[in-house]
Amino acid sequence: MMVCSCNLITDKDIKEVIVALLDEDCWQLIVPGKVYHAMQKRGRCCGCFPNVVDLIVRTTEEYHAARESAGDHVVVFMERLRIFQEEQKTAIFERRQRMASVA
Ligand code: FES
Repeated sequence: MMVCSCNLITDKDIKEVIVALLDEDCWQLIVPGKVYHAMQKRGRCCGCFPNVVDLIVRTTEEYHAARESAGDHVVVFMERLRIFQEEQKTAIFERRQRMASVA
């Protein structure tokens, strides 16, 4: 499924990069910019970023579940990821409101 229409990136492409990043360091915080940088792409309109964050959360959960990572670490990490996800959604919402008020 196409996730980023600006860069023609699918969910499969993104998941592969996320897994490769987790293989390097399974506790690193992965954000859309890091995923796009690994693909030598960059966000243009950034409208896809909320969906990329959802993919990061889901793929990271699946990654740790498959490897039976220590539960305590997963809970703390996933909580940090959810907080980041909410912050990003809020920032995007506020940016869109500012853009709408300017136009
Ligand atoms: S849809 Fe991904 S940067 Fe525009």
